[in-house]
Amino acid sequence: MTDNKDIVLDAVRRYHRQTAADEGFKPGVTEIWPSGAVLDEEDRVAIVEAALTLRIAAGPSAKKFESDFAKLLKRRKAHLTNSGSSANLLALSALTSPTLGDRRLQPGDEVITVAAGFPTTVNPILQNGLIPVFVDVDLPTYNTTADRVAQAIGPRTRAIIIAHALGNPFEVAEVAQLAKDHDLFFVEDNCDAVGTTYDGRITGTFGDMSTVSFYPAHHLTMGEGGCVLTDNLRLARVVESLRDWGRDCWCEPGKSNTCFKRFDYQMGNLPAGYDHKYIFSHVGYNLKGTDIQAALGLTQLAKLDTFIEARRRNWRRLREGLDGLPGLLLPEPTPRSEPSWFGFVLTVDPQARFTRAELVAHLEERKIGTRRLFSGNLTRQPAYIGRPHRIVGDLTNSDIITEHTFWIGVYPGLTDEMLDYMVTTIKEFVAVRG
Ligand SMILES: Cc1ncc(COP(=O)(O)O)c(C=O)c1O
Repeated sequence: MTDNKDIVLDAVRRYHRQTAADEGFKPGVTEIWPSGAVLDEEDRVAIVEAALTLRIAAGPSAKKFESDFAKLLKRRKAHLTNSGSSANLLALSALTSPTLGDRRLQPGDEVITVAAGFPTTVNPILQNGLIPVFVDVDLPTYNTTADRVAQAIGPRTRAIIIAHALGNPFEVAEVAQLAKDHDLFFVEDNCDAVGTTYDGRITGTFGDMSTVSFYPAHHLTMGEGGCVLTDNLRLARVVESLRDWGRDCWCEPGKSNTCFKRFDYQMGNLPAGYDHKYIFSHVGYNLKGTDIQAALGLTQLAKLDTFIEARRRNWRRLREGLDGLPGLLLPEPTPRSEPSWFGFVLTVDPQARFTRAELVAHLEERKIGTRRLFSGNLTRQPAYIGRPHRIVGDLTNSDIITEHTFWIGVYPGLTDEMLDYMVTTIKEFVAVRG
């Protein structure tokens, strides 16, 4: 059997080498994606190996990934999920658990967040009957500040959930301190910032919980996937329950009596001895990942440091190449941080002699992919109009982002040639139009 497996995996390696041949970069012809997965022979083999052994649900790779990733991100527990959005849903929903007693979030409670970001950072607030309180961000860090968060705290405020913008961290130590001072839960959406540090400490370790996405655009990928991380074992247990249908039992897949009391529980109005595997203490979901995803996650994890370094190098090359160009606001890292960049964000000065639409069209025509800073000001999106919310201060910069901002890629699949072409193309445009 093992021999046959080796034969198949050798064939996969050969297939990879045949198909992964580099066709060379042709300026204006080759697509320069803003983001994408960087997958090598080991990744391909890992996926096939997991499939060959029919590890179709969560299993040993999922368990290993959770433990390796938790160690790497310096948290006691990591729970694999089927997406970063699911991770956010689980983290926020966990704060409503009856097991938290008086500290749990109740419908109508407020959660502070940022107006300009990704929708599924905010959606779990609404999905749990809670009220988002939106604050604005600074330019050119694209992050909010601890001052803004402090001003937003009101009598019904119970939690904070904020994402580090495109890899650049917000003032996460100060926000964590605020959360502590005001007895608020704090969730860091770290989906775009794995590897970022603030005050020399990695993001995702400041909040009660943090979340990660493994979609191909992110620092490492499983195709689809995500993770909730925490040091708080009580919250970890709730996250697991909510992820796994709401069940009270914490047996790993394939295990039946980890607690040695499987038939000894009496909970709710159930008869004594009801099988613990089928006792549901939360109104849960099924948001689990699979072993095929985790097998890919493990081979990607081995390359995370080089991915992060490439993102930083690519960002610096763009930053140096575009420095001083008129009409464009270039990004700046948050003070005291070393970002693990997700993208290179540009804002066209509203007074410039060209518009975002014109510059984006110029780039897209030359096969340089662009993206928006996600939703822009979320309160202007159709899905959110008329939804309960509170705004503190104004959302001037969120509106500027909506109207004048876009980003281009820094992901490790980009070559120096591509980055230099991106710089030259922008410079040429500004020289003619600026
Ligand atoms: C900040 C942020 N949070 C959450 C998500 C959602 O992740 P996923 O696409 O894995 O659901 C994203 C997606 O890019 C994101 O950028």
